[in-house]
Amino acid sequence: MEFSSVLASRNSVRAFKDTAVPEALLEALLGQALQAPSWSNTQPYHVAVARGPVLADLREALGERFRRASKLSRAPWYAKLLAPFSGALPDGDFKPILKYPDDLQPRRVATGKGLYRHLGIAREDHAARDAQMARNFAFFDAPVAMFLFVHKGLGHYSTLDAGIFLQSLMLAATDAGLGTCAQGALALWRSPVEKHFRIPAPYKLLCGLSLGYPADDPVNQFRPQRISVEQLCLPPRQARGNDQ
Ligand SMILES: Cc1cc2nc3c(=O)[nH]c(=O)nc-3n(C[C@H](O)[C@H](O)[C@H](O)COP(=O)(O)O)c2cc1C
Repeated sequence: MEFSSVLASRNSVRAFKDTAVPEALLEALLGQALQAPSWSNTQPYHVAVARGPVLADLREALGERFRRASKLSRAPWYAKLLAPFSGALPDGDFKPILKYPDDLQPRRVATGKGLYRHLGIAREDHAARDAQMARNFAFFDAPVAMFLFVHKGLGHYSTLDAGIFLQSLMLAATDAGLGTCAQGALALWRSPVEKHFRIPAPYKLLCGLSLGYPADDPVNQFRPQRISVEQLCLPPRQARGNDQ
């Protein structure tokens, strides 16, 4: 594909076919993503690649945790007191974002509302919204899920490097006719992933990724809006006309 077409056609895929991804292709994509630049070329990341029975076990374990968490969120306050013993609380390495900054919240809301409207899910239909959210933990039926870990010793810089790596991987996958969905949701619980992979002590679970062949499903046609280049670029301190 033309590079500009790869950039333009990558979008978050939230429904996958069950077609397997050949191991050699997966390895080639990861190899391409390793071309990503990183701070002093430290490449401060690891990925845990889940397929087959490991993927099935993670789907079950994460799905169960999400069910418990969602039940707990609707429980009365006295039941919430027992939350630490419920097995529902996230045990991820980074705190989930509970409150978004005021200037970013409208974009988040517009994207969330846009997705539900696109799917015909009414705002007050909590069961349907929950069911859509639960799809995250089934990896949207993808045959491959990845969990991205970053070295805590480089602070923000390893997060930056991991982001560049992740986008490189997603673009390489797009170029190969595959679809991806980056998923912060897959970093909510670390213990189910740790059950299957040996994770070196300084590495923290940042994000997950579902990968596979996109299904012909309306959810994959959703295209959330972007800010304009004008909104992106900061204005100069002085307007041009006032330069003199
Ligand atoms: C770091 C990161 C975390 C994300 N987490 C989730 C997630 O947990 N679930 C989900 O459905 N989409 C998730 N997304 C996808 C975003 O919602 C999506 O990228 C954004 O709405 C723009 O849409 P597009 O990817 O289709 O262009 C995430 C994306 C990124 C980059």
